[in-house]
Amino acid sequence: MAALARKTRISASAAAAEDALAADVVAGLTASPKRLPPKYFYDRAGSELFERITALPEYYPTRTEIGILKSRAAEIAAFVPAGAALVEFGAGSCTKTRILLSAAKVAAYVPVDISGEFLNAQADVLRREYPDIAMLPVAADFTAPFDLPAEAAAMPRTGFFPGSTVGNFEPHEAAAFLRHAGRILSPGAALIVGVDLVKDTELLNRAYNDAEGVTAQFNLNLLARINRELGARFDLSAFEHHAFFNRERSRIEMHLASLKRQRVSVCGARIDFRAGETIHTENSYKYTLESFGALVRGAGWTTAAVWTDDEKLFSVHALKLSDAAPGSRVKEAPPSG
Ligand code: AVJ
Repeated sequence: MAALARKTRISASAAAAEDALAADVVAGLTASPKRLPPKYFYDRAGSELFERITALPEYYPTRTEIGILKSRAAEIAAFVPAGAALVEFGAGSCTKTRILLSAAKVAAYVPVDISGEFLNAQADVLRREYPDIAMLPVAADFTAPFDLPAEAAAMPRTGFFPGSTVGNFEPHEAAAFLRHAGRILSPGAALIVGVDLVKDTELLNRAYNDAEGVTAQFNLNLLARINRELGARFDLSAFEHHAFFNRERSRIEMHLASLKRQRVSVCGARIDFRAGETIHTENSYKYTLESFGALVRGAGWTTAAVWTDDEKLFSVHALKLSDAAPGSRVKEAPPSG
């Protein structure tokens, strides 16, 4: 890394990020079955492709969630106390944020995202539109502990986690995240979370296999990114996008399937592919209202309200922190004579 940083004059933090990518890529591709972390989808090209996905006719989640947020804005805003800090986990869509900032009376907006550059650009835009709201971006990995800005620490807090990003976690990781969010937002916290719902298999499969092939490009961009940033030589035409609903595990799985037997060298590691072998690139878990309710209960939250669209494609949940964390709630039985 140090040598690379000197040679190309990239900053130390960029070099560290490149090291993390290289380590995760080598670990994932030498594992069995092969996998890559979905967080690496979102470089500049990937973020642009994702923006295009959200506008596709087959991809119902984004427009459906925005529809729910707009039509239920007043009811949702009732879960945001006046003067609260709205803490968004992974600031992505200004459209969704604006709906809450306009409907509620928040004193501060705290977007937490790993990409500091993106955060500052977004905060600048929103600062102009909402001059009375303190914009306090935090550049951090929101799945790990982080400190709220001092200004927000004294305010009541409401979390916002839209986009069914929670579906990218394994269910036990989602529960761990919800506990961690509870610690950051407490006491008296509320959390507004968007969750995609289990539905007809065909409808789900179409949402991740669009006719235009944008989702395929989004998936393949992961290999293109590894080529660009790590100097690997993946032949993109030798891999194919696969996405399907795994009903038993209630998740969409995305894979990149090798169309032939091939060897690719990545950061000095030789990666062999059998014909048809896949790299598992993403899970997108789908919940029922009941299964998500059970998940949140087990993580110390109570479902205070749930909103869906008429077709029950997508859901928005308002959660309140339960009075005691599960575990401490279990009272010792008095000694029985
Ligand atoms: C941003 C994780 C919610 O799972 O639907 C879209 C990402 N992947 N198409 C999703 C995605 C393929 C998206 N999330």
